[in-house]
Amino acid sequence: MKHLGFYLLAIVAVITSSARANTITGEWYSLNNKAVLTLNLLSDSTFCCTSAASSTMCFDGRYVINNDVAPSTIDFTMRSGMAAAGILRQNEDGTLDISLNFGAPGYVARPENFDEDPTSLTLMLLHCTRNRTAIEQEALGNINVPADGHIAFERNQRLGHGINIESTLDGYENGNLSADDISRELSSVAEAGFTSIRLPVRFSSHCAPEAPYLIEPDFMAKVDQIVSASIECNLPVIIDLHYYPYISFAGKDSLISYDENIERLKSLWTQIAEHYSSYPDDMVYFDLMNEPNPQLGADGWNTLAHDLITIVRKTNPGRTILVMTPSLGQHWTINYLNLPQQDGNLIVEFHYYLPHLFTHQGLEFAMANGAHDIPWLGTSEERSAIDHDLDYCAEWSLRNNRPVNIGEFGVFQNADRDSRARWLGYMHQAAHERGISTHLWSFRDGFSIRNSATGEWDNIILNAIMKR
Ligand code: GLC
Repeated sequence: MKHLGFYLLAIVAVITSSARANTITGEWYSLNNKAVLTLNLLSDSTFCCTSAASSTMCFDGRYVINNDVAPSTIDFTMRSGMAAAGILRQNEDGTLDISLNFGAPGYVARPENFDEDPTSLTLMLLHCTRNRTAIEQEALGNINVPADGHIAFERNQRLGHGINIESTLDGYENGNLSADDISRELSSVAEAGFTSIRLPVRFSSHCAPEAPYLIEPDFMAKVDQIVSASIECNLPVIIDLHYYPYISFAGKDSLISYDENIERLKSLWTQIAEHYSSYPDDMVYFDLMNEPNPQLGADGWNTLAHDLITIVRKTNPGRTILVMTPSLGQHWTINYLNLPQQDGNLIVEFHYYLPHLFTHQGLEFAMANGAHDIPWLGTSEERSAIDHDLDYCAEWSLRNNRPVNIGEFGVFQNADRDSRARWLGYMHQAAHERGISTHLWSFRDGFSIRNSATGEWDNIILNAIMKR
């Protein structure tokens, strides 16, 4: 009998510790990028995180919780070698808040508070619940299905598998191309098997400095020349407003203010739309803005895109317009888009360059200068990351009745040739299997699959893409 007290104490201790463990271990659900994120904290100190929106948020590894400090801390070490440091708050209603910062092991600064609206790209606040259905419901978002989207789907199919003709009118051109050069290049694009082009144009460098910011007629004539040559080769052409101060990524700073920039942008689209209003609707498409700056936020971009669509529609009721996903055209921001419901002639565009350190290895502008000799072997893990991301966008497309385009995908020439061929071939196939049209980046610059001096295509890579 005298041991009973001891046993009771021991039982109570076991119950309390398992109750405490139970409050934190197991599956938690939260919204991340307006998609379901599942965090499974196992009792053996391992974890698994999956995000419906992005393969970049799918990882596993180990975690450590420290309840002896206030607020409690949680540290994650991913199997990939990345790390995250966080703080925890268990709420009375049974929910859990985790404020997290990502980085290299040993160099991650733990967040100090539960900032609702973190501005740093590596910071994240997760409101976690055990209620999976509620989160799934929220992730469906504001479904804004257009009454009739068939035209846009047909036009997207017409785009098929295209290529970007960059470094031509985007400010990175090297000398003037003659009409003959252009015709020769576009014929070679069509012969190689591409079925459309996306033409990045930096209009902002070729317009008057003051309202109404008239586009220089000589520059417009150059755009016309390429548009007409493209139509002649039976290649539909997307006029892409690329690089724009403040509003698109990598746009150089301008001397004019933010508000003036917006006014100028509206004026540019008024002029471009009027100028091309009589061109055939199934051959000329408009792409409102390359890679909208994250600083605009999703709301800022949605509002601006609505305004620009209204402007274009005044003169181009039948034109197909491409609208990029917010924040750099990432695929995982697709659910933030809020498009005008009455307009069924829109194609949603995103860019895909993952894994980033593989596609941009050695490139300083992309913060990947430390990355070298990174292969892409096409392992099942590597392929399923691409499948995961494209499935997410294809499901969104189905749910919202909006066609989807990958306006850029590519690998810089620093990566080895076999890896480039494998990744480009797999990406191309994975997109088209899901009805997603594509535009390879690029024709001329370091991402190209063509020798720009001789004009010859790298047939190993080209055939891997075209599956010949
Ligand atoms: C975006 C940028 C372009 C860059 C490409 C690949 O289109 O505007 O400058 O080369 O992505 O990173």
